[in-house]
Amino acid sequence: MPYDMGEYYERASDYDLEYQSQTEQDVPFWCELVMRYTPQRVLELACGSGRIGVELLHCPGNFQLEGLDISSEMLGAYQRKLDRELETVQQRVTLHEADMSDFQLENKGQFDLIFLPFNSIAHLYEIEQQLDTFKNTHDHLTSDGRFVVDTFLPDIDYLSQSTIERLPGRRNRSDRQPVYYASLYEQTV
Ligand SMILES: C[S@@+](CC[C@H](N)C(=O)[O-])C[C@H]1O[C@@H](n2cnc3c(N)ncnc32)[C@H](O)[C@@H]1O
Repeated sequence: MPYDMGEYYERASDYDLEYQSQTEQDVPFWCELVMRYTPQRVLELACGSGRIGVELLHCPGNFQLEGLDISSEMLGAYQRKLDRELETVQQRVTLHEADMSDFQLENKGQFDLIFLPFNSIAHLYEIEQQLDTFKNTHDHLTSDGRFVVDTFLPDIDYLSQSTIERLPGRRNRSDRQPVYYASLYEQTV
C-alpha cells in the first residue's frame, strides 16, 4: 500500500527554491550522460517540476524526452517552464501523470535511456513497488537500453543525525515525508 507523500510536492515553487543548488551538482552529470550515450528517446521517472528535464533539453542532442510523475502540481510547474521555451523545444517533450510502479506508455520498448534521479527511488516504500517499477522500466527500454538510478546510501551517522533533527522543535521540510533508505548490502532481486 503506497504511503501518502502528504503536501510535500504540492508547492512546486517551494521545491524549486529549496533545491536550486542541487541543479549545479547533478544536472552536469545527466547532461554528460546524454552526450555520451546519444539516446534517441529518453524517459525521466519522477520528473517532478522539470528541474533536470528542462536543462537537459539544452544539452547537445536532439532526443525526444518524456517525463512521468505522480504529482499534478509538480507536472504543472514543469509545463509552465516548458511554456516559456521555444516551440521546437516544446515539441520534444511529453509529460505523463502516472505512478512509476504502474505505467504503460505509447512508446513502450522504445526508450534507449530511462533515468530515475535525485533519490526519487526512495519514494518506493515497499519491495513490491520497487520490483514493479524495475519490471515496468525494463519493459519500456529497447533491448540495449539503459536504466540509470541516482540515489544516496546513508550511513549510520547520517541516520542518527536525521533522528536528532526530528526531535521536537527541530522540524524541517524533509521530516514531512517518508523515505525508503536502501542499504549498500541490500539485494532486492
Ligand atoms: C525528489 S523529487 C525529484 C523531482 C525531479 N526528478 C528532480 O530531480 O528535481 C521526487 C519526485 O518523485 C515523485 N514521485 C513520488 N512517488 C512517485 C511515484 N510512485 N511515481 C511517480 N512519481 C513519484 C514526486 O511527485 C516528486 O516529483
